[in-house]
Amino acid sequence: GAPTYILGIETSCDETSASVIRDGREVLSNVIASQADIHKRFGGVVPEVASRRHVENITLTIEEALTEAGKTLDDIQAIAVTYGPGLVGALLVGVAAAKAISMARGIPLIGVHHIAGHIYANRLVQEMEFPLIALVVSGGHTELVWMKEHGQFEILGETRDDAAGEAYDKVARALNMPYPGGPHIDRLAHEGEANVPLPRSWLAPDSYDFSFSGLKSAVLNTLHNAAQRGETIEPANLAASFQDSVTEVLVEKTIRAARSHGAKQVLLAGGVAANRGLRERLQARCEAEGIPLVIPPFSLCTDNAAMIAAAGFIKYEKGQFEGLDLNGVPSLSL
Ligand code: KG4
Ligand code: ZN
Repeated sequence: GAPTYILGIETSCDETSASVIRDGREVLSNVIASQADIHKRFGGVVPEVASRRHVENITLTIEEALTEAGKTLDDIQAIAVTYGPGLVGALLVGVAAAKAISMARGIPLIGVHHIAGHIYANRLVQEMEFPLIALVVSGGHTELVWMKEHGQFEILGETRDDAAGEAYDKVARALNMPYPGGPHIDRLAHEGEANVPLPRSWLAPDSYDFSFSGLKSAVLNTLHNAAQRGETIEPANLAASFQDSVTEVLVEKTIRAARSHGAKQVLLAGGVAANRGLRERLQARCEAEGIPLVIPPFSLCTDNAAMIAAAGFIKYEKGQFEGLDLNGVPSLSL
């Protein structure tokens, strides 16, 4: 039949993004207006500033996504938008834009959960095989998700305190690196040796939950104690040791979940999926276990609208649409 074109919109945090995809899997455009440079000055995302930038950027970003795809709104069959979780003022900008287009054009409105979007970034690379286990690691999320079929998500475990990316950013700040610090720690870790003793937070033996605040404190204490003794710690070794602890726990819990749930696939998602140490370790363990691993390219790992359109396509096929009363829900559950 005729192809389906979906316009995706993402504004949950500090990226204004719009995308057009064909038949749920082919990216025709994926425009991202990043605010990173503004928030860098504050060492983190400032919600009020983010909302205002989204308002300034949203119309042009959508127009660019359509132009790049060689499409107009006449070609679009449905609008998929992130409606949570995220910053409420930021979410509302995308939701309002999506509602306006849906109403003006008389085309269906689809509400997408941000984490579902991160997971479906993988479907833009490779078809999903169920059951599967997805590890979602970003600045705001750390979740192990079990999927038995399209559009069904069961959270097996999540962080009890800091998200993985948040822990990276806090440790980077302690080492005087700019925000976001994850990529800097990753680079430094590859120049050092993991020889600084740091804890692994496994929690209960059968738990799929995570905790990173104890590890972060251990890094800060190590720095503090060394300074008091007039010693210096090689930052590269500290970074390598921190990365070793984070990736060991993430990877081993993912593998245990995959084995116990008979996973046919492991998916990696979220900004921290860019981490070289994590990719290498997960790749090696999945190979040893004989479980296929999918990791999207970096441009689809960080917040973007193509992943939202990909998740939205599943709801489109099922006819799961929203009314014009759709709202942004900051703490939306999966
Ligand atoms: O998914 P994302 O772009 O935004 C959120 O939804 O949070 O993830 C951003 C997070 C930041 O915490 C950043 O430091 C982290 O991903 N990150 C990394 C790497 N690249 C980005 N963390 C560790 N290693 C990396 N190479
Ligand atoms: Zn995200």
